[in-house]
Amino acid sequence: MNKISVEKNVKEKSKIISFYNNKTYHIVTYGCQMNVHESEKIRGILNSLEMNETDDIHSADVVVFNTCCIREGAEDRAYNNILLLKNDKKKNKDKVIVVCGCMSQQKNGKYDLSKSKIVDIVIGTHNINALGEYLLRFAINRDKIYDILDKPIASMDSSACVRDDKVNAYVNIIYGCDKFCTYCIVPYVRGREMSRPSQEIYAEVKDLVQNQGYKYITLLGQNVNSYGKDLSEQMSFAELLEYLCTIEGDFKIKFMTSHPVDFDDDLIRVMKQQIKLAKTLHLPVQSGSDTILKRMNRHYNIKHYLKIIKKLKRAIPNIALSTDIIVGFPGETDKDFMQTLKLIKKIKYDQIFAFMYSKRTGTPASTFDDQIDEDIKTSRLNKLLRQQKIIQKENIKKYFKKTYDCLIKFINGVAVGITDGGKEIYIPNYRYTNQNYFISVKVEDIRNHKLSGVIK
Ligand code: SAH
Ligand code: SF4
Ligand code: F3S
Repeated sequence: MNKISVEKNVKEKSKIISFYNNKTYHIVTYGCQMNVHESEKIRGILNSLEMNETDDIHSADVVVFNTCCIREGAEDRAYNNILLLKNDKKKNKDKVIVVCGCMSQQKNGKYDLSKSKIVDIVIGTHNINALGEYLLRFAINRDKIYDILDKPIASMDSSACVRDDKVNAYVNIIYGCDKFCTYCIVPYVRGREMSRPSQEIYAEVKDLVQNQGYKYITLLGQNVNSYGKDLSEQMSFAELLEYLCTIEGDFKIKFMTSHPVDFDDDLIRVMKQQIKLAKTLHLPVQSGSDTILKRMNRHYNIKHYLKIIKKLKRAIPNIALSTDIIVGFPGETDKDFMQTLKLIKKIKYDQIFAFMYSKRTGTPASTFDDQIDEDIKTSRLNKLLRQQKIIQKENIKKYFKKTYDCLIKFINGVAVGITDGGKEIYIPNYRYTNQNYFISVKVEDIRNHKLSGVIK
């Protein structure tokens, strides 16, 4: 960072800021909620350079691609969209194109961004917070910047962040991942687990709820259950949740993502007891086959996973469950896949996110010699999605005569209660004008897969 700290000189900085002053920017975000939130930080940085956001990527003076590399498709999408700016760049020589995030952090990725003539600044996941300084440096010498670091450079606080959503706010609690599932690139591009001190998180959540009126806080981490293990303070994830629930206000907390290995009884107890914890959980299973789970390095078997689900459903009968599933992992047989189908039929998830396995360079599974043909992967994915569609149609029946704590919203002028799991319950006889508050709604009718109910 020595090179760019020189530009921190205030006089120099104000001169350079005027280069960006009143220019426009556009951010393109790929990938997970972590990236969505990081783009909110990027927006904060660009606003502090007195730039204005625009929806038009072609006219924007600065375009930032915040990328993902979880699957090959994510890389292809980003790269093809970067290429589409070739003409704009010819027309506007001052247009600055930045690529940051997981795809640029990746070693030996599919596309070598250091050679791209269209891209001006390439940074990774560990130096996004310094984007402002990289832009200032680029404004001075106009030389392409390619700077990928091995470790984070600055504290990753969210103070400068300008959020997209006014109801749900993302808050980071832990960065990185130490799990090393054999298919996954995340530990290589996001680095080791690093928890934020609990007081910092508390202060951010308190401000979001009490000063900014947020109704949902979604705590983010690749594996939130690992929270605190790397901190000097004694604080588990369940304890962090209890601590955050002491904040006064009408709000709820969600979190993602949980790993089945670290999901303990204490967390289930806290989820049941705390009314401020949303009654929803995303618990990725990845496969219904123990053989595949072992080869994925997931460290649990289906018996363990089902035990957690059973305890959760017993403790919180109305809980909404979702999961991630990979089909076509190397060596997955028809029998393994049938076990995945069996599992989703048994659990009856409210939602699943299913993906075809994608080979990621540098991960152990990419070297396994029993890779599955693409057409088999496609057919398994379709089968799985068809099955889940049937399950979701069936699931709707379980809402009948049940009561949910909902956030009231108006959709096209009609009052709707949104459950913690995101299900909409229409309230035809709603006589009030206020919205954005939590209240109990009882489902009284189900027609054409739509729920309607009354305030309880
Ligand atoms: N940390 C989270 C999410 C990681 S990425 C977790 O552990 O669950 C989100 C999802 O992408 C994963 O849950 C997995 O289902 C999927 N995924 C990860 N790597 C993949 C790969 N190489 N091919 C296909 N899907 C993948
Ligand atoms: Fe990837 Fe596994 Fe870490 Fe999730 S827990 S980010 S799937 S390595
Ligand atoms: Fe993608 Fe990086 Fe998230 S690889 S899924 S943006 S952590």
